[in-house]
Amino acid sequence: MEKAYFITTPIYYVNASPHIGHAYTTIVADVLARYYRLAGYQTFFVTGTDEHGDKIAEAAQKAGISPKAYADQISAQFRALWPELAVTNDYFIRTTDPNHVENVRRILQKVHDTGDIYFGHYEGYYCVGCERFYMEKELVDGLCPDHQIKPEFRKESNYFFRMSKYQDWLLRYIQDHPDFIRPERYKNEVLAFLREPLEDLCISRPKTRLTWGITLPFDENYVTYVWFDALINYITAPGYPDGANFKTFWPVAQHLIAKDILKPHGIYWPTMLKAAGIEPYRHLNVHGYWNVDQSKMSKSLGNVVKPLDLKDKYGLDPFRYFLLRDMVFGLDSSFSEESFVQRINAELANDLGNLVSRSLTMALKYGDGNAPAPRAPADEDRILMETASRVVTEVEACFEDLALHKALMAIWEFINVTNKYIVEREPWTLARDPANQARLASILYNLLESLRVIAVLVTPFMPGSAKKIMDQIGIADMTGQNFDSIRRWGGLPAGSTLKREESLFPRVEFKKEEKLETKKLEMSPMKPEISYEDFEKVDLRVAKVLAAEAVPKSSKLLKLKIDIGEERTIVAGMGKDYKPEEMIGKNIVVVVNLKPTKLMGVESHGMLLATDAEAGLTLLSFDRDPKTGAKIR
Ligand code: MSP
Repeated sequence: MEKAYFITTPIYYVNASPHIGHAYTTIVADVLARYYRLAGYQTFFVTGTDEHGDKIAEAAQKAGISPKAYADQISAQFRALWPELAVTNDYFIRTTDPNHVENVRRILQKVHDTGDIYFGHYEGYYCVGCERFYMEKELVDGLCPDHQIKPEFRKESNYFFRMSKYQDWLLRYIQDHPDFIRPERYKNEVLAFLREPLEDLCISRPKTRLTWGITLPFDENYVTYVWFDALINYITAPGYPDGANFKTFWPVAQHLIAKDILKPHGIYWPTMLKAAGIEPYRHLNVHGYWNVDQSKMSKSLGNVVKPLDLKDKYGLDPFRYFLLRDMVFGLDSSFSEESFVQRINAELANDLGNLVSRSLTMALKYGDGNAPAPRAPADEDRILMETASRVVTEVEACFEDLALHKALMAIWEFINVTNKYIVEREPWTLARDPANQARLASILYNLLESLRVIAVLVTPFMPGSAKKIMDQIGIADMTGQNFDSIRRWGGLPAGSTLKREESLFPRVEFKKEEKLETKKLEMSPMKPEISYEDFEKVDLRVAKVLAAEAVPKSSKLLKLKIDIGEERTIVAGMGKDYKPEEMIGKNIVVVVNLKPTKLMGVESHGMLLATDAEAGLTLLSFDRDPKTGAKIR
């Protein structure tokens, strides 16, 4: 039977445009798919979009269009992005696809029929950002640990999946299949969850609250919980239940995700599969998080780096290279444009780019425009073939372990050995004496063959650059250029036509003032519309701050004495961003008809206006000196 490989990415929510976090996962999946294709595997690579649920309904409402029209737009952005990043997915799934909707209903019915779905009552804290209920003890200071917002308290009758029934089975399964979830740290995290009693999973939402979802097959009044719907994409895409691809690929399915969605993938999904009578997936591969300049990057925080901005500024292959080389698979990484530029210059322009251009310049200068014939290697040439063969084996092992950064380090070892070979053999010195022609030709051949080896090795990572190297050494057709072919030294045919082209990776300069903008806030959910009369009820005034002091025992509250034509006291939670002395004399905007409230024992008679903490707290200010107490409308 032909060897098969199946890799999936998460299907991304369509409530905001793609950023480098999505690009990373999808590019890793692409590198894996390209590698396994090269290795002769029949490969299936799936990505797509997750389109139902509260989050999307809210975003659509904000945009003033229907959820489907909204999902169509953002899903199209994801779909259009991937070819721009040279991503070669075989299938793009949307959870609004009719075959998926049908599959979700099929699985629900199946699990319902076995008695593993029941109707019950629920109350708990729901975070729309996470699309899940939290237990009180999971909240940190009453807030969602991920989104730092207060979840809504919800009380509902709903359908539940008897997940608890499968707790012991899952625990044993993970223990018996040590590489089911990898790297190990994430397996341990799932095992830690499983040491606590597992609750049943609420898998429906009443239509009275949410209609944007897949209607339950056994109750018209409910839609399916978005995670129960989304996870099933992994079997819809290869054609569950009867598709040929399902038969071929499901037994070797591997999921790729970041650590944020470990619980749904490590716990909900395998138990759902078990309940539906389907074999578990083969591996769950979990990577860390990209932060930006040391702080967390996320759609809700708004400090996102856009993949196309980076591609346009620095080129696609440098972008792919950086993401893959910089992140240790499984650990977090901090994106900085400055270190990106450093890597481009050192590793791409200097190490690889120079090697290609030097080798071709010499081969053209000292030869007849074609690759010389291979000759029996001298002892001093063995270092090249031995390193090549060791590196191929290392790279293969790295792919097995998903250690893509290590695979690149191994390839760079070969690049550096080849650079050293040039320095030590000094072809330019040999060229001075016609008696050395045969030796010189042999060295040049070895260099060109090394370029072929490098081109094959970097193909999954930087397909465009690999092709350019191949073109320069006269290999137009990449068929057969695989890892096996580079184990046998001498695969570059004698007489291949050489050509030297523009440098592969031009050096770039990092200019602080041209750094890409990352602090754009986007897509934060909007509140429902209100009438003008409602707005008129809010009394906003210009206030001058007369005095300010920290509220004792509070890390962020300031007590302000303000003048609005009369004096009053307000308390504001801004002490982390503004010092009391900075506040004195400022003109601020205050809601003056808010019911007084006590904060840490101090009564507050109004609330000042500022941007919210997520965006970085900034006070509203005036472009001219306003009149104290003036009404704002
Ligand atoms: N729709 C769900 C997934 C359902 S899969 C059945 C979802 N979508 S998401 O749009 O939030 O995507 C989460 C995934 O995007 C992460 O698991 C990861 O693959 C990628 N990333 C998003 N932000 C990321 C970082 N900051 N860093 C690395 N990857 C990140 O969750």
